[in-house]
Amino acid sequence: MTVQACSSQLPVVTATLIENAQVAKGLWKLRIEAPEIASSFTPGQFCMLRIADRTDPLIGRALAIYSTDPKVDGRRSWIELVYQVKGRMTTQLHRMVAGQRLQVWGPLGNSFSAERVDHLVMVAGGIGQTPFLTLAREALGLESFGTSTTRQNGYAQHVHLLYGARSADYFAGLDEFRQTGLNLELATDDGSIGPPQRVTDLLKKKLVELQGQSIRIVCCGPEPMMEAVSEIAHQHQVRCEVSLETPMACGIGICFTCVAKVKQEDGSWDYKRTCIEGPIFSSTEIIW
Ligand SMILES: Cc1cc2nc3c(=O)[nH]c(=O)nc-3n(C[C@H](O)[C@H](O)[C@H](O)COP(=O)(O)OP(=O)(O)OC[C@H]3O[C@@H](n4cnc5c(N)ncnc54)[C@H](O)[C@@H]3O)c2cc1C
Ligand code: FES
Repeated sequence: MTVQACSSQLPVVTATLIENAQVAKGLWKLRIEAPEIASSFTPGQFCMLRIADRTDPLIGRALAIYSTDPKVDGRRSWIELVYQVKGRMTTQLHRMVAGQRLQVWGPLGNSFSAERVDHLVMVAGGIGQTPFLTLAREALGLESFGTSTTRQNGYAQHVHLLYGARSADYFAGLDEFRQTGLNLELATDDGSIGPPQRVTDLLKKKLVELQGQSIRIVCCGPEPMMEAVSEIAHQHQVRCEVSLETPMACGIGICFTCVAKVKQEDGSWDYKRTCIEGPIFSSTEIIW
């Protein structure tokens, strides 16, 4: 493993691909050797990835950290990333095999909050489930992540994952999520599991069911879905955090490719860099 310093002093690691396997229709999971990232990330953070020794694509892609190995003597050794085969990077990525090399830097961005709550309701659409496995494990007190002693685990009494996809074939990692003990509910557009419905239909029912208890929503997925979830959260006066997936180039605050339009306290608006001031924002901040 070679470590170079990038301009922000954040190490760019040339790491070995350990495994790359299909986990659902069009979705793949890769495991890479990255002990520093694995040992220091907290749920919601991401890393940037490039294919070593290739210039196409030249720019890295951001991927949320999905999972890691159990801690041994306070250290971990690998991270897992789940990606949808879509465009220039991911069509090359899914053809890579164990032993090949990737460039990776991170962990980057902020994390989901870790404040006490009765019900943590995670709403995922499409590939949006990726930041939620470690979050569920942390919230339920099964594991702790990162190096900070101030970030506690076990802060949610109950965790719910409401997960929507076009069809049953597109769900990834269901067994891993179930193993945490969370309450899993699925919605498919085509009715291949249950009636045809949107994940927002599940959310509306859940918020009625949990009325009177403390709830926090976290959401990741396509932007129209996150906007709809934010609106439902607002109607029910429930706090909601969204994880934005704006395209990124550097991941470290230099290039301004990743800006999102946010509300200011004085009623005006400004841009914020999703890579360093996000990717997690309060839903009330975002101008969709
Ligand atoms: C913080 C953050 C976390 C992220 N986490 C994840 C994650 O965990 N998993 C994940 O898969 N992605 C994640 N993304 C998105 C990821 O960074 C890339 O945008 C994505 O993998 C596509 O990269 P690409 O090079 O394959 O596509 P590109 O070639 O860069 O394509 C760019 C866009 O063009 C469109 N496009 C291109 N080809 C097609 C096609 N064949 N069909 C439909 N649309 C197309 C898509 O809208 C695509 O996003 C995350 C992004 C951010 C900012
Ligand atoms: S990706 Fe470069 S500033 Fe955010």
